[in-house]
Amino acid sequence: MPLLSDSFSRIGESQTVALTGLLAKLRREGRDVVALGAGEPDFDTPETIKNAAIEAIRNGFTKYTAAEGILELRQAIGAYLQKKYGAEYDANEILVTAGAKFAVFMAIAAVCNPGDEVILPAPYWVSYPEQIKLAGAIPKVLPVKAENELKITAEQLNKAVTAKTKLLILNSPSNPSGAVYSRKELDELVEVLAERQIFVLSDEIYDQIIYEGETFTSLSQYPRIKERLLLVNGVSKTFAMTGWRIGFLAGPVELIAGAKRYQGHTLSNPTSISQMAALQAYRGEKDFLHTMVQAFAERREVVIERLSRIPGLTFNRPHGAFYAFPDFSAHKGKIGGGQRIETSMDLCNYLLSQHDVAVVPGAAFGMDNHFRLSFATSMANLHKAFDRIERGIQALR
Ligand SMILES: Cc1ncc(COP(=O)(O)O)c(C=O)c1O
Repeated sequence: MPLLSDSFSRIGESQTVALTGLLAKLRREGRDVVALGAGEPDFDTPETIKNAAIEAIRNGFTKYTAAEGILELRQAIGAYLQKKYGAEYDANEILVTAGAKFAVFMAIAAVCNPGDEVILPAPYWVSYPEQIKLAGAIPKVLPVKAENELKITAEQLNKAVTAKTKLLILNSPSNPSGAVYSRKELDELVEVLAERQIFVLSDEIYDQIIYEGETFTSLSQYPRIKERLLLVNGVSKTFAMTGWRIGFLAGPVELIAGAKRYQGHTLSNPTSISQMAALQAYRGEKDFLHTMVQAFAERREVVIERLSRIPGLTFNRPHGAFYAFPDFSAHKGKIGGGQRIETSMDLCNYLLSQHDVAVVPGAAFGMDNHFRLSFATSMANLHKAFDRIERGIQALR
């Protein structure tokens, strides 16, 4: 009898595990490897937020809370959505979870039955396909075009919907591409969503990290699809709080009530102390975000400039988040370090083992012609990494 259940067996191994192992090995051997793999801000959580957590501990706020999260935090999230997007969410339409990742999982599991199809535009964030499979649903990967900055069009969506389609997952700004859907693009997608009556999970975890005066449009700005919108966000990226594990799911009351029951019997509740920290973040934190985004914006300029100088790489300028996702297909089939480079994993292995720079293979995001790099690192690291990437790519024959 197999040890693992069918459900757990369906979850694939992370495609980057081997590279992470190699990175650790090289560092143990004393090699000075520069890593551009980070999926989190390199900034520390603001002091005011840390102090709120310390105070919570001192005040004995260290016990179970309501499964759905404390009322004050849910209200603060509602106020935040109202202020940013004019969206109306009552506290009972919001569930606080342990990180946005768990909110994504609950959103999928809450609406999908086994066999339902989920439309997943590629490139996608690594955990979506596995979470869809975990829920027993089927990921229907929809490759998008570079000409459209790696975003799906309304026409593509309309064609992809079948009788079995339950959900579309949209992630703007995108991890890994940094693409941001414009108001017009969302208007058109919303038309299709409304007409075809499918649910949409909008993962807006990078909504505050936007460049070049671009304005971010949230799907919560479309009341006509509110009854089918599952909105995910959290404090991880906005307030540099990845380790605190606080995210939220906002959606129809009945769905949130179901997710609350699920959470109550699995997680119990998100950490009490982290909830107090997140409350401070949503209510009180003002200056931090501006400083962080300013720093990312300066690094982004460097990334764009340095990437443009490397022959054979094409890329779309990231409009949000802190990633770039270049296409290296012009170099496929070449030899580097005695190995032929056919896949994104080959390229990343080559750059790491021969040139001491770590980037993430595009295959992990459903696009094998690309690799992802993160600019959530210091300017000095960024330049050092680009010197190596440039040298590595130029050495391919
Ligand atoms: C697109 C996307 N969604 C969700 C998450 C998860 O966020 P959290 O750390 O709050 O679980 C991440 C983290 O990398 C992400 O990139």
